[in-house]
Amino acid sequence: MSGSEYTEVRDLANHAGAEVTVGGWVETLRVHGKVAFAVVRDGTGLVQCVVARKDLDDATWELGTTLTQECSVSVTGEVKPDARAPGGQELLVRSLRVIGKSEDYPVQPKEHGVEFLMDHRHLWLRSTPQRAVLRVRSEVLQAIHDYLYREGFTRIDTPILTGSIGESAGTLFSTDYFGETAYLAQTGQLYVEAACPAFRKVYCFGPTFRAEKSKTRRHLTEFWMVEPEVAFADSEANMRLQEDFVSYLVERALDRCAQELELLERDTSTLERVRPPFPRLSYSDAVAVLQERDSTIEWGKDLGGADETILAGLHDLPLFVHDYPKEAKAFYMKENPSDSRTVLCNDLLAPEGYGEIIGGSQREDDADRLLARIREEELPEAAYEWYLDLRRYGTFPHSGFGMGVERTVAWITGRPHVRELIPFPRLMNRLTP
Ligand code: 4AD
Ligand code: MG
Repeated sequence: MSGSEYTEVRDLANHAGAEVTVGGWVETLRVHGKVAFAVVRDGTGLVQCVVARKDLDDATWELGTTLTQECSVSVTGEVKPDARAPGGQELLVRSLRVIGKSEDYPVQPKEHGVEFLMDHRHLWLRSTPQRAVLRVRSEVLQAIHDYLYREGFTRIDTPILTGSIGESAGTLFSTDYFGETAYLAQTGQLYVEAACPAFRKVYCFGPTFRAEKSKTRRHLTEFWMVEPEVAFADSEANMRLQEDFVSYLVERALDRCAQELELLERDTSTLERVRPPFPRLSYSDAVAVLQERDSTIEWGKDLGGADETILAGLHDLPLFVHDYPKEAKAFYMKENPSDSRTVLCNDLLAPEGYGEIIGGSQREDDADRLLARIREEELPEAAYEWYLDLRRYGTFPHSGFGMGVERTVAWITGRPHVRELIPFPRLMNRLTP
């Protein structure tokens, strides 16, 4: 149901032999003597419109042979099945109207530089690979909600303007809030923790912000994160949830975006093997492995991008690295009862060099230990009074994780840079379009 006078291209097969009107944008035009072929995209598919001199008056023929790239059109014609046409149908044009002209369309079907394309992101979005990538993103977003709904999670919308630092003081965006300082949320985690005693299994899903001063292919300043949080779950259960969740998302993309992945020339053989259990490596073992391979990593330091690539290269499945040193991780992680130098946490590293897609942990549920960590990190104590209350009134073991959508979809689609995985990327040097 298109709900308008226009028939959607994806429905054309149901209208074979009938006359319909399609509204869309002209991708290409080829003129061969007395016939022209215009490929029109309406957002649901592509249809080849056949403009035949013999069937048309002079004005329509003239219009049909001078269509320009990305002008918008309304095309009325007869639907004719044609196995060679994209989508399996052609439209034999009877009448044609240009709705919006498009002269000198900037994004040409040739190689453009990255900055040029990013400056024209509002137009670049229409191109075939970009459409494929964003379709996969949309499918993954839907799959996230479907999985968590099926598993009985309640969605909790967490604030974007906050008074407490969620992750670390180093990457905060702040803004004046009636004379106070507000931060743009780095995470919704602290708030979903508060919702756990109300609903047991909860998640938030929204944009998160980090003033990352790094220009890598994995960093955005605004990215989307899904953060499940589960009461009475330990770090082990947390990893089991992550591997099941990620496997489901990959399977959904393979199942429902086969065409898009093929168009993107993604080799799906490794994705097809993604299923639980994922390999696990403790941080301490990871350091030993890295030192054997000439990394400069020392025990206690967080893993760098190059280290992650080496580790991820050991397997063709996503890899859990767990139980990092306390000083390398955020204040809220639970101390490891069997080694107090480490915390009960994990990163999930995607294979093929896509890096960390998930960060997760069991949360510190002891009020005194948590307060001590807040003090050690010199975080403003008053802003965490409410968070400490969660440990004062019915504290409970709980764990959760955050999965970055753009990095995950970069891996699934095989695109090297996260800037393509979000419709309008925000980067250190980019705020427009
Ligand atoms: O590891 P992070 O910082 O974890 C948290 O924010 C926790 N509060 C999550 C939780 O336990 N509820 O971030 C989680 C994920 C990373 O693994 C990565 O996929 C993504 O968020 N991420 C980014 N993606 C793009 N650009 C950035 N600058 C990112 N920073 C983190
Ligand atoms: Mg992390």
